[in-house]
Amino acid sequence: MDLYIGIDLGTSACKGILTNKKGEVLRTHSVGYPVYTPFENYSQQDPLDWYKAAVEILCVLSEGHKEDIKGVGIAGQMHGLVMLDRNDEVIRPAILWNDGRSTKECRYLNAMGDLPELTGNVAFPGFTAPKILWVKNNEPENFARARKICLPKDYLAYMLTGVFSTEYSDAAGMLLLDVKNKCWSEKMCAICGISRDMLPTLYESYQPTGRLKPEFGLENAVLCAGAGDNAAAAVGTATLREGDCSISLGTSGTVFLPCDKFNDSCGTALHNFAHANGRFHLMGCILSAASCNKWWIKDVLNADYGDPDEPKYGRTGVWFLPYLTGERCPHNDVEARGAFIGLGANTSREDMSLAVLEGVAYALRDCVEAGGVKIEKAVLCGGGAVSSIWQRVIANVLGADIYLTETEQGPSMGGALLAMAACGEYPDVFAAADATVKKTLAVKCEPELKDVYDKGYEVYRQLYPALKNVKF
Ligand code: XUL
Repeated sequence: MDLYIGIDLGTSACKGILTNKKGEVLRTHSVGYPVYTPFENYSQQDPLDWYKAAVEILCVLSEGHKEDIKGVGIAGQMHGLVMLDRNDEVIRPAILWNDGRSTKECRYLNAMGDLPELTGNVAFPGFTAPKILWVKNNEPENFARARKICLPKDYLAYMLTGVFSTEYSDAAGMLLLDVKNKCWSEKMCAICGISRDMLPTLYESYQPTGRLKPEFGLENAVLCAGAGDNAAAAVGTATLREGDCSISLGTSGTVFLPCDKFNDSCGTALHNFAHANGRFHLMGCILSAASCNKWWIKDVLNADYGDPDEPKYGRTGVWFLPYLTGERCPHNDVEARGAFIGLGANTSREDMSLAVLEGVAYALRDCVEAGGVKIEKAVLCGGGAVSSIWQRVIANVLGADIYLTETEQGPSMGGALLAMAACGEYPDVFAAADATVKKTLAVKCEPELKDVYDKGYEVYRQLYPALKNVKF
């Protein structure tokens, strides 16, 4: 029996699945770890926590099947900065994708004017290059010690195999890659004060990069290059061709649109990144999605929230801005903050809970509008995808039919499918996804409810500009 492991190195937890070549999930395991926020807008993690979590996952998933595991694929939270010294020791905590400390460095980079030409993108504080500059400017002693710079999942891969590798989908989010030409940008390296040999070797996501070290006891397993979590989720939901779309509701929220060719027709409103299928994609990313719901239900209400019987879709009179950790697309504003607007004496807890789901959906629509793209159908994945209320809200706010796959764990399934392609189980990523991923229609867009939400969105889009200049 040939088996595969997909690992999703997420922000709240590392999640793994064990699957056969049909994509049937045989076992899952997940290990959580903390995010450290020592100062406002800081978001950091200890890479050793990731490593310990991944080793536990490999152990639990492979128990009793060690010889059967043919391949492992890792999907990872994107953009994180990991710096290693000459002994491969981690120099400082990893600076994550939702960290907002590098605004000044972004302003500097964007003022150069040629970033879109060099990298296909503009600078956002979450991206890796501005964070390298931040370390250079603020922690010169740490910067001077750095010999290797890599992304979260590539650190994990290096620890597991000893091979220092990355791949185009995740490298694109570093702002060091010339995405169109798929090579490191010498000029961006020079601007950040690093040399190209500090960066990992580039692969396609579905290429094998090495074997796991003998201590893991998986001597038949190959590691493939893997992918950024969004590109991996797109593989895991078979979002591979132009016209497809996947929406992820994890800690962040993303709208992912594959392109056959490098496509900067949306300018820089959406990210122009490489896909894990060897091609490209556009993506809008909001910083807080399912995390808003978790914050509201668990942290604020301290409740185990049951879905209301009859949600007042689009008619609560309450709007929620989901900018709990600032916002990436389209506002690029680390200072933005969340808000409830429209509260009245009759507003109920259910109204506010629904407003949170709607606010996240409106924020995703902001990305779609900024990119000027039209979505007719989308596959939903990530923790938030299991909520039938949220599915209906997303369908009608975006005006799209919503599909689901058998597992909402898109990134780890994508990692496993990439490993299958790397091992030759399928000829390529398309064949692997087409043979294993089943999409079923969950919710159709309803014209009447879409009208209600179109009106709701007109209100929503006025709120950020109205509040932007209020300093508190
Ligand atoms: C994408 C992004 C997030 C992280 C979350 O640009 O920053 O979706 O990848 O893990």
